[in-house]
Amino acid sequence: MELFSWYQNELIPTKELKINFTDDITGQLRGFRIFTACVRFGSNKKIFKRKKHIKRLYKSAKSIKMKSPYSKTDLNKIIDSVVEKNKDYDGDIQFDIIFSGGKTSSDGFTPLGLSTLIILSVKPFDFPDKFFKEGMKLVTFAFQRPFANVKYTFYLPAIFAHLTIVKDQEADGIIFVDPNDNETILEGSSFNIFMINSNDQILTYPLNGKILKGITRSIVIKICEKFKDLEVLEQSFTKNELINSKEVFITSTTRDVMPVTNVDGFIINDGKPGKLTMELREALIEFRRNSN
Ligand code: PDD
Repeated sequence: MELFSWYQNELIPTKELKINFTDDITGQLRGFRIFTACVRFGSNKKIFKRKKHIKRLYKSAKSIKMKSPYSKTDLNKIIDSVVEKNKDYDGDIQFDIIFSGGKTSSDGFTPLGLSTLIILSVKPFDFPDKFFKEGMKLVTFAFQRPFANVKYTFYLPAIFAHLTIVKDQEADGIIFVDPNDNETILEGSSFNIFMINSNDQILTYPLNGKILKGITRSIVIKICEKFKDLEVLEQSFTKNELINSKEVFITSTTRDVMPVTNVDGFIINDGKPGKLTMELREALIEFRRNSN
């Protein structure tokens, strides 16, 4: 069965989706565009943490003065129709709910009115099994995303890092370190990052505007504290602390919890995916299975 997306008040087979460039110059040419990537897991037919994704999308729009294309109520009705249209699709579906800038005003630069809604329905990317079995190899890259608490579609620095250092070092992905000190670990290209220290305390960078507030990050913190009796410290840590930690993992909607076993060529602990990491991965999948 094919997947259906949404654009200009129509449900369209994803393969046939075409964006009208001139109707969306600020999005297409100037990159004034935000989104959220959420998943309907085949197992329970509902978008996981949908409310939180919508909330973050509207918050992102507000903080960059973007005019939302619809009220929350109307957007939810549209999302319902997209979910319904795809209901018989077997397997997981990723919905990228995008607010794209829209037409420009006469200055050819700033948006004229409301942003444009695009809902792109796709099969989530299949990450290699190796990432779960052996853990990921990450490299650091000095950069801090501007407007970091906004989820926008600008991934140029991360892609550049992939085309250069990730490729050169045969790694799997990058983590941003604060360019001010070149050692504080912030977040990844499209994920948040956690480390576990020798006291089994779990550390992740705090929400101070320098990282995206990942939805998976929040759920994992909740699982650690409520169900696993683990202490979480939302505090910064350095590259050196990361390399010398007991376990490292990353989180995102499309990856859940994924183990990291190598950073900048340094092997983490015994080089195998951490025990607690894999327990947290299972706990998150279980939590999702039970949630509605
Ligand atoms: N990425 N940080 C950045 C910069 C991100 O782009 C993402 C999400 C995250 C994790 O957020 P969440 O747990 O809400 O997915 C952190 C999505 C998955 C993507 O680009 O596909």
